Amino acid sequence: MNKMITAVSLVLMVSVSSQLVMAHGGATGIVKERMDLMDNMKDAVKQLKAIYKGDVEYDPDTIRNAALVIRDHSGDAMSRLFPEGSLEGKSEAKPIIWKEWNRFRTLADDQKKIAQGLYNAAQNRGTTAGGNMMAQSMMGSGSMMGNSKQIQQNMTNPEHLGSMPSDMVFKMLTDTCSSCHTRYRNDKDK
Ligand code: HEC
Repeated sequence: MNKMITAVSLVLMVSVSSQLVMAHGGATGIVKERMDLMDNMKDAVKQLKAIYKGDVEYDPDTIRNAALVIRDHSGDAMSRLFPEGSLEGKSEAKPIIWKEWNRFRTLADDQKKIAQGLYNAAQNRGTTAGGNMMAQSMMGSGSMMGNSKQIQQNMTNPEHLGSMPSDMVFKMLTDTCSSCHTRYRNDKDK
């Protein structure tokens, strides 16, 4: 009887774990956790893309919800899933992450602020057509040129981003995804 149960639960365990294997090419543990986190963000980006491409109607609530998903998956929530040397299985993470840990973590933190910025900008249904105005807004009002440090700060200041057209903030957000992936991820199908 006991043997039967053991045999049955073994079969169950094997089939459950082979499903996990299917999902992420063999990833388990923390590597799988961060793949899931990334995949959730990908879904949120997909929803946002549909809006900015005009496939679905502009809806500030949808934008806010997707922005919150991304915000809450960024910063520490993201970087804590990259403990030093965690490259098991099918991970696409590059070891250089831990050589440049501060830079990596800053990208994750910046993304969190930009996602909050998108949340704040959700009602700004604008277009980026007014290029000059945008450039000025990014540099901060009152100064003609601004210095690069000031621009840098404005780029990640959620209040400041909240005054920009939301499609521009969305572009900045997806740029953070790609700049991190370009440097820190081995990706065959980027
Ligand atoms: C700070 C760096 C960083 C940022 C920012 C970042 N990613 Fe990633 N992402 C990675 C790394 C590193 C991997 C590879 C993880 C692994 O395979 O262990 C990855 C993997 C992925 C994957 C593949 C997951 C899988 O199932 O294998 C997707 C999808 C993804 N990211 C989407 C996004 C999206 C969308 C954004 C922006 C909203 C984003 N990422 C922002 C570093 C980042």
